[in-house]
Amino acid sequence: MTENRHDSQPQPLTARAGNRLSGTIAVPGDKSISHRAAMFGLLAVGETCVDGLLEGEDVRNSIAAIRKLGGHAERDGTGIWRINGVGIGGLCEPDSVLEMGNSGTSVRLLMGLAGGHPIRTTFTGDASLHRRPMARVATPLGMMGIDCAGRQGMRLPITVTGPQELLPIRYELPVASAQVKSAILLAGLSAAGVTEIIEPEPTRDHTETMLRHMGADISSEKLSGGGQIIRLSGQPELRPAHFTVPGDPSSAAFPIVAALLTPGADVTVTNVCINPLRAGLFACLAEMGADISLENQRRAGGETIADITARGSALKAIAPPPERAASMIDEYPILAIAAACAEGTSSLRGLAELRVKESDRLAAMAQGLSACGVKVTELEDGLVIEGRGGTATPIPGGATIATQMDHRIAMSFLVAGLAAKSPVTVDDSRMIATSFPDFVSLMHGLGASIETIEAS
Ligand code: S3P
Repeated sequence: MTENRHDSQPQPLTARAGNRLSGTIAVPGDKSISHRAAMFGLLAVGETCVDGLLEGEDVRNSIAAIRKLGGHAERDGTGIWRINGVGIGGLCEPDSVLEMGNSGTSVRLLMGLAGGHPIRTTFTGDASLHRRPMARVATPLGMMGIDCAGRQGMRLPITVTGPQELLPIRYELPVASAQVKSAILLAGLSAAGVTEIIEPEPTRDHTETMLRHMGADISSEKLSGGGQIIRLSGQPELRPAHFTVPGDPSSAAFPIVAALLTPGADVTVTNVCINPLRAGLFACLAEMGADISLENQRRAGGETIADITARGSALKAIAPPPERAASMIDEYPILAIAAACAEGTSSLRGLAELRVKESDRLAAMAQGLSACGVKVTELEDGLVIEGRGGTATPIPGGATIATQMDHRIAMSFLVAGLAAKSPVTVDDSRMIATSFPDFVSLMHGLGASIETIEAS
């Protein structure tokens, strides 16, 4: 386990209100698509090119893993990543443990991918990843014949051993999770026959779109009641591809909400992925009365993208429908900050999954908002937040927030600090590098006051 992150000390940061935010920025490539582009490149013989790959720590961990599984991955002088794959069935057994850092997506998808091969692969990670549940992946993989041996409660470190012959399964997902769906599909690529997954709530579909683009026979059929069934024919020959990664909506969320919460702000984020299975936050913000517009909508790399402009706005409270949760699952921390600054009481429900993310995000947000002087009730599956009522009555702030090894908690409270009466400090900003390494410099470019403080 990564005991001491890069052997460095915690790096606190403080955000304070003041400057008007303005400007146009591009956020880094989408994390989900970047992981998949690198991993799927391994499954095609020949060179897959990836343009706009997110070079955050999580994706770097995926790249290090695919190298150990037999692939080659290099960044050329123009910034394009070239992945030379070995094809389905061609993976090598890694000669050492795969270190996944903070990245749940890396470990869960690679458990399926490696488990589809008759090799033994051991995964480890940092303290946050060691707490996260892996039974949700190990159970369906076990039904396919893959042996997963973890610590008690199926926690990391986990060793995955694939069988000589894998069984296709029909599996109904007990939780809405694109990671679990993707792990089963990646294992299913090695099975002789059709793997079927029933999703009660559709989750992000990048795996399906990208595998189809590489030549896999994969379809989805809507079911009455809002769910869908996904079918994948095993043992395809995948073609190498060229992937263009759009900007990450989950990263764009932070400068967009920062703009909405600060008077007079006018910020545009270009080239953002607005796949409907990712764009729930933008719908919520519009319903809260945000001055937000999606312009120049276009298709690129199999995804719909747009330039999003947000301006300082007086927001109203919201109660998003729980069925929208899957399309904005990573955006609830920043939505909670927007709700704290809005007029009225917001109710964010149907969110039990947030307890098993990089941190227990319901607890982390409830503690952080309370420390900032916001009235919040923590429920088993959500948060009820009494909004402070806009720019005339900003949230008090003046607190130091425990970020709990969670990049999105850190960025959310730095945004809160930009709208608070007194500065807000996050106790450690190092995790931001997992998904959004340029966050602080891009926010500085917009005029935000986010500064290092000397640890006492
Ligand atoms: C992801 C799926 C989501 C999300 C995570 C990335 C993916 O997790 O929270 O950040 O790339 O498939 P779940 O599958 O656990 O919902």
